[in-house]
Amino acid sequence: MKFFVDTADTAAIKELNDLGMVDGVTTNPSLILKSGRDIIEVTKEICDMVSGPVSAEVVALEAKAMIAEGLKLSKIAPNIAIKVPLTWDGLTACKAFASEGLKVNVTLCFSAAQAILAAKAGAAFISPFIGRIDDIHYDGTDLIEDIRIIYDNYAFETEILAASVRSVNHVIDCAKIGADVVTAPPSVIKSMASHVLTDKGLDQFMKDWAKTGQKII
Ligand code: G3P
Repeated sequence: MKFFVDTADTAAIKELNDLGMVDGVTTNPSLILKSGRDIIEVTKEICDMVSGPVSAEVVALEAKAMIAEGLKLSKIAPNIAIKVPLTWDGLTACKAFASEGLKVNVTLCFSAAQAILAAKAGAAFISPFIGRIDDIHYDGTDLIEDIRIIYDNYAFETEILAASVRSVNHVIDCAKIGADVVTAPPSVIKSMASHVLTDKGLDQFMKDWAKTGQKII
């Protein structure tokens, strides 16, 4: 299972990348806003740091303009994955990019039907948003399961990139289903290390160690 980090915060990416936790990065217009940085400048810095795919999202809504933006973004670095929304224009742009050998991440996927179209259009990644499906009281991980079955039935090569991941349970559910990639905020990835019994056990060991009066160094 690959871990992408869903942020444009370069310090957070560096911390996780130094630990070998980062197989790629995803950004979107909201994350660029949050970073307060220029999209080209911050994306270049991320691409220099991370060797895996770095998704940079177009903001045009019409295919021709999306293609122009995507081509500009693709020139930032060889590891750019151009992110397009799952609209008819986005699929048109996806097909054009894929035909040029460029990696495309089709985002804002909320149905298995949309995921089939993205695979047919040559997407390298499909990004189903599980947290936002949970937000409207459905189970986002059911969608990951459906797409996994469909892609396996037909040996589609598009990778399932579970997005809008909000919790450790989301990560575990996606891993059990067999999502190829999970993209999660740094806070979710870091909280995977926490367990209440780890904290409790460590606390007991520290108390008992203090009673021994010993030192290792
Ligand atoms: O990768 C897409 C992701 O950033 C959306 O997450 O939490 O805004 O639904 P969220």
